[in-house]
Amino acid sequence: MAAVVSVEQLRKRYRRRDPWAVDGVTIQLEPGQAFGLLGPNGAGKSTVVKVIAGLLRPDSGSVSLFGSDPGTPTSRTELGFAPEDPDFPKFLRAREVMDYFASLLGLDDIERKRRIPETLAFAGLDTERRQIRQFSKGMKQRLGIAQAILGRPKLLILDEPTADLDPLGRRDVRALIDRLKESGVAVLLNSHLLSEVELVCDTVAIMVKGRVLKEGTMAEVVPQGRNLEDVFVELVQGLTPPHEQLPSFISEQERKP
Ligand SMILES: Nc1ncnc2c1ncn2[C@@H]1O[C@H](COP(=O)(O)OP(=O)(O)OP(=O)(O)O)[C@@H](O)[C@H]1O
Ligand SMILES: [Mg+2]
Repeated sequence: MAAVVSVEQLRKRYRRRDPWAVDGVTIQLEPGQAFGLLGPNGAGKSTVVKVIAGLLRPDSGSVSLFGSDPGTPTSRTELGFAPEDPDFPKFLRAREVMDYFASLLGLDDIERKRRIPETLAFAGLDTERRQIRQFSKGMKQRLGIAQAILGRPKLLILDEPTADLDPLGRRDVRALIDRLKESGVAVLLNSHLLSEVELVCDTVAIMVKGRVLKEGTMAEVVPQGRNLEDVFVELVQGLTPPHEQLPSFISEQERKP
């Protein structure tokens, strides 16, 4: 089966003097696969997905999306990308944002009329008439997911999609991922919510400081009787310098006057 996305020996840093944000990452996704890209803050996860989405250029290595370079018009319409901190023009309404993305995707009137209300209903924003400037964080995240699925992508990239979502929203995103997998869509998920990742992903890679330290199917990475969080904490804790659990002033006994 042809890979949906193939990343080989990717290296990327933001400035010449910076350490590598991504330092030799190789990953592949097949149709219908849900891949969890995990790692502590600053590990390089968002940098990897931004390169795949064509928003950043690699310094070295190669990235192929549906057999082409990221950022080409075909690969762009087949990709849905929900960024980690989505933002939209402040004075637009959800419906107008969706219209804008529909134009970018080249959807005709019939498809717009069908897809936009259904997608907004899925995101719980169909009755929301206010401008984006009045949206909460979670509402923006919902809109970010809505625009990402509007084009019926073959690859959906979700960067921390449920970080700001309420429990119902999280459940909807899990159901969405399951449904997309069944229909052959590949999903690349960045998340710190490891219990969710464990439920939806078939394959995971754990990155630390720009490198993948562990990768495999869920069964390979998580031995029986353990959970993904145990595996993650063990791997990452062993590589970070030990530190006090709490600031000393927090632990101090309150002084009596
Ligand atoms: N715009 C930027 N300019 C300079 N450095 C950046 C920029 N974005 C990210 N970095 C650096 O690149 C490294 C990887 O960041 P990245 O955002 O990819 O991490 P992440 O794994 O997504 O973290 P998080 O879990 O916090 O979202 C970090 O050292 C970060 O400081
Ligand atoms: Mg990130």
